[in-house]
Amino acid sequence: MNEIERRRTFAIISHPDAGKTTLTEKFLLFGGQIQVAGAVKSNKIKKTATSDWMDIEKQRGISVSTSVMEFDYEGYKVNILDTPGHQDFAEDTYRTLTAVDSAIIVVDSAKGVETQTRKLMEVCRMRNTPVIIFINKMDREGRDPFDLLDQLEEELKIKTLPLSWPIGQGLRFKGVYNIYEQNLNLFTPNKQRVTETIEVEISSEELDNQVGTDFAQQLRNDIELIDGVYPEFNIEEYRAAQTAPVFFGSALNNFGVQELLNCFVKIAPSPKPTQAEERIVAPEDSSFTGFIFKITANIDPNHRSCIAFCKVCSGKFERNQPYLHVRNKKTMRFSSPTQFMAQRKSTVDSAFPGDIVGLPDSGGQFKIGDTLTEGEILHFKGLPSFSPELFKYIENDDPMKSKQFTKGLEQLMNEGVAQLFINQFNNRKIVGTVGQLQFEVIQYRLEHEYNAKCRWEPVHLHKACWIEADNEVELENFKKRKYQYMAKDTEGRDVFLADSSYMLTMAQQDFEHVKFHFTSEF
Ligand code: G4P
Repeated sequence: MNEIERRRTFAIISHPDAGKTTLTEKFLLFGGQIQVAGAVKSNKIKKTATSDWMDIEKQRGISVSTSVMEFDYEGYKVNILDTPGHQDFAEDTYRTLTAVDSAIIVVDSAKGVETQTRKLMEVCRMRNTPVIIFINKMDREGRDPFDLLDQLEEELKIKTLPLSWPIGQGLRFKGVYNIYEQNLNLFTPNKQRVTETIEVEISSEELDNQVGTDFAQQLRNDIELIDGVYPEFNIEEYRAAQTAPVFFGSALNNFGVQELLNCFVKIAPSPKPTQAEERIVAPEDSSFTGFIFKITANIDPNHRSCIAFCKVCSGKFERNQPYLHVRNKKTMRFSSPTQFMAQRKSTVDSAFPGDIVGLPDSGGQFKIGDTLTEGEILHFKGLPSFSPELFKYIENDDPMKSKQFTKGLEQLMNEGVAQLFINQFNNRKIVGTVGQLQFEVIQYRLEHEYNAKCRWEPVHLHKACWIEADNEVELENFKKRKYQYMAKDTEGRDVFLADSSYMLTMAQQDFEHVKFHFTSEF
C-alpha cells in the first residue's frame, strides 16, 4: 500500500516549444537524476515541419532510454513518461496519456493556448485525467495573467485556480508569490541553481522593500481579487479533473519549478483503478496485471528487437514469473525487464502499480493495448486510435519481397506507427496518419528493418470514421449505398472513408441511426 501511495506517474505535455523539455529537465535536476541542465536536450527531435526522419532516427537511441524517467523526491517515487516533441507523433502522446494518473500542461505565456494544448486537454478530459497547468516563460513579455486564466478556462473547458501568482512580467518579472504555501520567491535569473525562498507576509512592509511599492501594491490587489473570485483549493475537485491548479514561472531560469514540483507530489493522485472490459482493477489487488501502451523498435537494423512498455496496474510485477499474454493465450517469462533512470536503464526484479517496465520483445509478440496477467482473462480498455487526417495508398514495390512487406507493415501497425485500412471495394491498403512524417517513418523502417520496399499513391480522403448502428438493416443499407467508401481496420471493424466534410455531413443526415465515431473506442 505504501509503495502505491507514494507513486506519482504522470506526463508533461505541451504544444511544441512551450517548454516541456526544459521543465522535464529541471524536474530531473531536482530529482538528482542529472547534474547539469542540457542533458535531456539531446532527446528533443527537431520540431520544424521540414525535419526529416533521418534526424529523428539518429536521436531515437537516446529517446528509447528516456521514454520513462523515474526518481525519488521527498519520499515520493516520481515516474515521468516522456512524450515526443514533434507534433506528427501526437498519437504517441495520446497513447502515453492512457498510462498516466495525472498530467502537467505547459503553456507559453506569450502564446497562450495553442492547437496541441487544446487537443491534449481533450484527451485528458476524455479520460478524466487531473491536470496542473504551468504557465511558462514569464521572463518574456506575455499576456496578462488574468487574461491567460480566462483563456485557459474558455478554451480548455476546465475551471482554473491559480496556486501561484507572478509579480511583474518580462524584463520586470520580479518573482512568484506562492499562494499554496503563502510565501514569496524572488527572481534571480539562474539557469542551474535553485533560487532561494523568502518568507514574507503579503501585508508586511518587507514586501515593499523586496519588490518595490508599486509591485507590492499590485500584488496585494491581485491576491485580493483572486481571493474574491476564486474558491479555495479543493484537492478532491482537482483529482476529479474538475479544476486545474495553475502555476506561473520560467522553466529555463528554474523559476517557479520547485514550487510546482513540491505541490505536485503532494496533491497529484497515486495510481488509480483501471477499467478493464471485465471489471475495474484496483491497484491494491494482489495479483499482477498490466498493459502495453507503447512499443519502441530497436534502432540497430541487425537487431529487430523491440521494447514494449508495460504499465503495472495492480499487484507486483516480478522478474522471471510466468505471466499470461491474454491476446496470444501464451505464458511468458521476462528475464531482463528494465526500468529507466534518465539516461540509464537497468534490470528490475520487481515493480509496483504506477511503474513502467520495459519488456524486451524480439519476436514482435506485443501489440499496443495487450494485457498481461497472472492467468486471468482481462482486457484493459482505453487505448483509442484517433481518426487519422492524412491518407495514402501503400503498395508493395518489390514483388519478390511481399512476405517481408506484409510482416513489416503488420509489425509497424502493431507498434501504432499509423493505422491501416483495407478498402472493401478495391481491396487496396490505405495508411492513415496524423502527420506527414509517419509516411517517411514507414518507408524508411520497411526498408531498413524488414528489407521491403513500399510505394505511396495518393488517395483523396477527408476522414475515416468507425461506424455502427443498433439497427442491423440500416447498417447494411449504409454499407451497400457507400460500398465504394467502406473499409475494414486491422481489427475487422467497419470504417467509413469520407472524401469530403460535405459527404460526411450528408451521410450523417441521411442515416440518422448510424453512429459515426471519430475514435476507435466507443
Ligand atoms: P518543448 O519541449 O515544449 O518543445 O520546448 P523546449 O523545452 O525545447 O523549449 C522551447 C524553447 O523555449 C527553447 O528555446 C527553450 O530554451 C525556451 N524556453 C523554455 N523555457 C523558457 C523560459 O522559461 N523562458 C524563456 N525565455 N525561454 C524558455 P530554443 O531556442 O528552441 O532552444 P535552445 O536553443 O534554447 O535549446
